[in-house]
Amino acid sequence: MPKFCFVELIEPAVKGTLNVLKACLEAKVKRVIVVSSGAAVGLNPRWPKGQIMDETCWSDKEYCRTTNNWYCLSKTEAESEALEFAKRTGLDVVTVCPNLIWGPLLQSNVNSSSLVLIKRLKGNKLSSVVRVSACDDKENFSAACLVAVGTGVFQFLYAYLNSNKQSLLSVYTEGYESLENRLRMIVDVRDVAEALLLAYEKAEAEGRYICTAHLIRERDLFDKLKSLYPNYNYPKNFTEGREDVTMSSEKLQRLGWSFRPLEETLIDSIESYKKAGILD
Ligand SMILES: NC(=O)c1ccc[n+]([C@@H]2O[C@H](COP(=O)([O-])OP(=O)(O)OC[C@H]3O[C@@H](n4cnc5c(N)ncnc54)[C@H](OP(=O)(O)O)[C@@H]3O)[C@@H](O)[C@H]2O)c1
Repeated sequence: MPKFCFVELIEPAVKGTLNVLKACLEAKVKRVIVVSSGAAVGLNPRWPKGQIMDETCWSDKEYCRTTNNWYCLSKTEAESEALEFAKRTGLDVVTVCPNLIWGPLLQSNVNSSSLVLIKRLKGNKLSSVVRVSACDDKENFSAACLVAVGTGVFQFLYAYLNSNKQSLLSVYTEGYESLENRLRMIVDVRDVAEALLLAYEKAEAEGRYICTAHLIRERDLFDKLKSLYPNYNYPKNFTEGREDVTMSSEKLQRLGWSFRPLEETLIDSIESYKKAGILD
C-alpha cells in the first residue's frame, strides 16, 4: 500500500474513529452515530449478481486492496472496527452509509462528491483547489495523484504549492466527450442530516443503515440536468459498460426516513455553486 494511502486515508479513518469512540465511552455518551459510506457496502464481488445490496453486504477488504480502492478500504475498516468496538465495550454505535452526496455547499471549498456534479456541468477547464495535507514529498505527491485518478473524479494535469506542510493541488479536468452510462446512487446532504438525526433519536435504531435516495443512470441524469440547465457543457455521448450494483435504504425508511426529489437536490446544488462563483 502506498504510504500516502495509509497516512491520508486508512489511519485517519480508523484511528480517528476509534479515538472518538474511546472518548465517547469515557464520557458515557449514550449513542454514537458514525458516518460510514456506501463505499463500505458495495465493493463485494461475491455478492450475487443482480441482487439489491442491503446492510448485510460489506465491501471485501482484500478486493479493495487488490483493486487499489483505498477510500473504500478506509471506510470498510473504520466502520467494521467501530461496530467491533461497540460489541466489545457495550457502547451504543449506529452507522449510516450514504452514497454520493450532493446538495448546497456550506463550506467554502469544494469537496470531491460535489466535483462529480460540477464536472458534469462545467466541461473543460474546471479549476479547483483540493487540499492534500502532509503531501510534501515526491513519493506522496505521486501517490496523491494516483488516488485522485483512481477515484475517476479528476484528471490531474498538475500542480503544486507547499505551505505549512500542506500541498495545494490545482485540479484541472476536461469535459467529457463520452461518459459510461453507469448507475449513480445519489442522496441530498440535507436528507443525510435527517438520517443521522433519526439514527440518533429513534430508540430502536441499531447496526448499519444504507442511506441512498435516487438510483439514476448517467444518461437520465444528463437529460434531467439538460432540461433544468440547458446551457452547460454536457457529455456528447454515452457508452455501456460495467455491471452496476444497487443498494436499498429500506431499513432506514422503516425508521421513518424519507427524501426530497432529485430535481430539488440538483437545483439547490447548482444554485449554490453559482452563488459561490464555482461555475463562472
Ligand atoms: N461526500 C460524499 O459523497 C460522501 C458519501 C459517503 C460518505 N461520506 C463520508 O462523509 C464524511 C464527510 O465527507 P465530506 O464529503 O463532507 O468530506 P469533506 O467535505 O472533505 O469534509 C471532511 C472533513 O473531515 C475533516 N478531516 C479530514 N482529514 C482529517 C484528519 N486527518 N483529521 C481530522 N479531521 C479531518 C476535514 O477537516 P477540515 O475542514 O479541517 O479540512 C473536514 O471537516 C466522511 O466520513 C466521508 O467518508 C461522504
